[in-house]
Amino acid sequence: MNIRGIDRVVLGVEEMDAAQQFLADYGLTAVDKGRDGATFEALDGSNLVLRQANDRALPMAVGAATNAREIIWGVDSAETLQSIGAELAKDRQVAMGNDGVLRTRDETGYGIAFEVTKRHSFAATPGLFNAVGVPPQRINRRVDFNAPHKARSLGHIVLYVPDLAKARDFYMQRLGFRLTDSYRDRSCFLRARGSNDHHNLFLIQKEGSPGGLHHIEFHFGDYNEVMMGGRRLTEKGWKTHTGPGRHVLGSNYFWYFKTPCGGALELACDMDYVTDEWEAGEWEYTPDVVAAWCTSYTLYGH
Ligand SMILES: [Fe+2]
Repeated sequence: MNIRGIDRVVLGVEEMDAAQQFLADYGLTAVDKGRDGATFEALDGSNLVLRQANDRALPMAVGAATNAREIIWGVDSAETLQSIGAELAKDRQVAMGNDGVLRTRDETGYGIAFEVTKRHSFAATPGLFNAVGVPPQRINRRVDFNAPHKARSLGHIVLYVPDLAKARDFYMQRLGFRLTDSYRDRSCFLRARGSNDHHNLFLIQKEGSPGGLHHIEFHFGDYNEVMMGGRRLTEKGWKTHTGPGRHVLGSNYFWYFKTPCGGALELACDMDYVTDEWEAGEWEYTPDVVAAWCTSYTLYGH
């Protein structure tokens, strides 16, 4: 089950123009705009697809109509796709589309899908740092503060679920995800086996709610891009949800913004790179664990 990460999320939205403006300001590039909606892409080809929330072609929403309606995971090969199909067909409807996408639902009811990943390499500008005590990287060069902030890759999605154990076990036992950390009885970080990000999926138990999107994150090049991106979003009138700050679990720098897409979008960078040797911890949900430092504390607020 070598799942590499999230290739694409389809979002049902009610404010289509505002949602498109937000994604462009956030650092994604519009690659396809039409009557049905639009697609906004990161540098590696991972993307967000906007569709009208009442589009009958979309999977039914879990929770509000403005929400993540389909989460498409990229896998390493056609063989993996086939084995996922065989595994999930044991207890649920699975359909292979003409587009090569295998569609079904997870244990909570979220529309999930799988395809041979369409992510591609791209020309990445290295972040150059000068740290005292080690060889300098940026010599006789100023930082270019006018450089655009560009989302490089879709990193993770965070979803509310009414039953954490059930939701978690589906991804771990049926799809091979690894637990990388958890907040006791409350939420858990999961890594797809073919990814080295600390998490690609974070599930939060929310009792009394069918579920819904908390946020989606894209990786940016470095801390400066996160901060410049956040500054530019703020100047354009978009409101901070949380941040800027730095998480303890995952170690990523973050800045979350409120969006017209049904959840927040996070700009982030410098997440923990983990392998199968990583040791998961169980943590109490306290501000000191949620963020090593942060300028505001509404994270995962209820
Ligand atoms: Fe996040």
